[in-house]
This record gives sequence, C-alpha cells and structure tokens, in this order.
Amino acid sequence: MAKAVKTIGVLTSGGDAPGMNAAIRAVVRTAIHEGLKVKGIMRGYAGLLSEEIVDMDSTSVSDIMHRGGTILYTARCMEFTTPEGQELGAQICRKHGIDGIVVIGGDGSFRGAGKLAALGINTIGVPGTIDLDIACSEYTIGFDTAVNTAMEAIDKVRDTSTSHERCSIIEVMGRNAGYIALWCGFANGAEDILLPERYDGNEQALINRIIDNRKRGKKHNIIINAEGIGHSTSMARRIEAATGIETRATILGHMQRGGTPTCKDRVYASIMGAKAALLMAEGKSNRVVAYKNGAYVDFDIQEALSMKKDIPEDQYEIFKMLVR
Ligand code: ADP
Ligand code: F6P
Repeated sequence: MAKAVKTIGVLTSGGDAPGMNAAIRAVVRTAIHEGLKVKGIMRGYAGLLSEEIVDMDSTSVSDIMHRGGTILYTARCMEFTTPEGQELGAQICRKHGIDGIVVIGGDGSFRGAGKLAALGINTIGVPGTIDLDIACSEYTIGFDTAVNTAMEAIDKVRDTSTSHERCSIIEVMGRNAGYIALWCGFANGAEDILLPERYDGNEQALINRIIDNRKRGKKHNIIINAEGIGHSTSMARRIEAATGIETRATILGHMQRGGTPTCKDRVYASIMGAKAALLMAEGKSNRVVAYKNGAYVDFDIQEALSMKKDIPEDQYEIFKMLVR
C-alpha cells in the first residue's frame, strides 16, 4: 500500500564502495526535484540509532561525484539486527519526520531495510558493494572501480613475478563471492583462480598445474585467490616447498574499496540513486533497485534476498580453456 512521503533519509551501510557518493547525489537531487525534503543519516544504521541526522540540500552533494568512499560514512551496527534496535530506529525516523529511507549497501543492509519497512518506514535499497554479489542485480555500484584497481595492481605484481621467474598468489576481495577473482583472472591472464563458489581445496592439483606450466616454459605463474578462501601466505609457503619455485603472496586488501570511481560506477550509481528517489516519491516501499537484462528495474526486498547468484559456469569453463 503506497504511503505519501514528504521527507526521506539517505544512508550508506556495510562495506563502502566507489560510486556511493554519486548515488547519494542522485538521491538528494532527484528527491528535491520531486518536492521532497532530504536528510542525511551518518554512519548507516548506527548513526540512525544515535540520531546523527543532518539536513541536505542540492549543494550538500556538490563536488563529490569523483570522490571514493562515502560522504555519509558507513558502519556496521549489531544493535540494529535486534527487534529492539529496529523499533528504536523506526521511532527515531518518526521523531525526525523521516517517512522513508534510501539504503545504499549490500544484502545485510537490505535485510535491515526490510525490517524498517515492516515497521512502517518506507525503504528503497540501492545495490552498493564491490563484490557484485546481489542476486537480483547484474550490477552493483563499486564493482567496476574495484576490479580495475585490482587489475592494475596485479599487472604490476606480474612484472616482478616474471623478472624473478616466481609464482605469485594475489588475494583479492570477496568473502563469499568470486566475481573480482574471476574478472581479474580473465583481465590479467592469470594461470589459476580460486573462487569461493568453486574451489574444492585440492592444493595438490594446483601444485601439479604450476609444475606443468613451468615445464611448458612459463616464466611466472599468477594465481588469483579470493579472500573467502584466504590463507594466501601459508599457501605460498606450501607451493614453494612442493615445487621448488620461489613463491610470494600479495594481499591487495582495502585498496580495492577506495579510489576515484570509474565512469561506469558513476553512471550506474546516478541512475540507480535517481530511480530509488523516484520510487520514494511514488510512495513505494520495501523495494530494491536493480539492473537486469539491460534495464533498471526494482524488486520486493524479500524476493530479492531469496534469489541466488552463482558464477556463470560457461565463463568459468572459458577461463580454464584460455589458460591452457
Ligand atoms: P552489506 O550491507 O554490505 O551486506 P553487512 O552484512 O555488514 O553489509 O550489513 C550492514 C548492516 O546492516 C549491519 O551492520 C546491520 O546493521 C544491518 N543488518 C544486517 N543484517 C541485518 C538483519 N538481519 N536485520 C537487521 N539489520 C541487519
Ligand atoms: O563487502 C565488500 C567487502 O570488501 C568484502 O569483499 C570483504 O569481505 C568485506 O567487505 C571486508 O570488510 P571490512 O574489512 O571492511 O570489514
């Protein structure tokens, strides 16, 4: 049932992602265009519970498009996962005259948004995570920047790896999702990728492939390991002991979450943020904006959260074919 909204809040939650600022800008300016008032909620749900709420206007979001991170800051908030925390959040919204909140974040943040919606606060989610792991959407804000940052870093590691004729394990982000590892696997011409969705723990098979590659004259061996598998440093030690090939581990870490957003991230973020504000203006609630089959659409939050996403098998098979 649509409920008229006059004032909305916007927050960023969970891991930050380059492009979140473009999404905030689009939410604020579209909402103002639609005649709504906008409040910025700092530090995700934590800032909602501590009432860190500021008025925003068109100029509050000037000159932020090109900046990484999020001007609203972000946080993880355990208290908000409890029914008491959610009830308090809804009460604080009512106290500040906030009829709805645009939540920019990942699945966890959308779970929180679903809870707020059930308590009568309109919510719209915008997919913001470098992991590309939101099942209802083929794109998530931050992925393009993160994967380009990782690709450039891996190119550099590759140069030194070749000079020293070493094996390199490079760990990229993705606790539960291997999209960054898969894309870097292709883009960096890696010899192997270890994905949380696929890796069976068979290190001996990995070692055998390294030995075969060396026999075929390869000067380096780049293995891209997703964070969800981890243990890159100890894996490097075991590979060196088993193959006799000098092996180094490089963990790229949080550098992948920062930096100037790419054009793609800015554009997707702008359109998704604007769509979210338009849904708010229509009085919609409990929806997630998504990009699917070449179009911007929206899904019911619970439906979106029940969807599953997996690494496309054909892409994984093509990767393996190309390294042979
Ligand atoms: P992401 O949104 O990137 O998946 P998290 O999983 O860390 O990141 O979730 C971000 C925040 O969303 C959490 O710190 C918490 O405040 C809120 N959240 C996560 N799960 C729930 C839940 N089941 N119910 C209510 N709030 C939740
Ligand atoms: O959600 C993005 C992500 O970068 C994951 O790939 C990673 O596991 C997680 O965030 C790490 O978050 P933090 O170190 O900020 O807790």
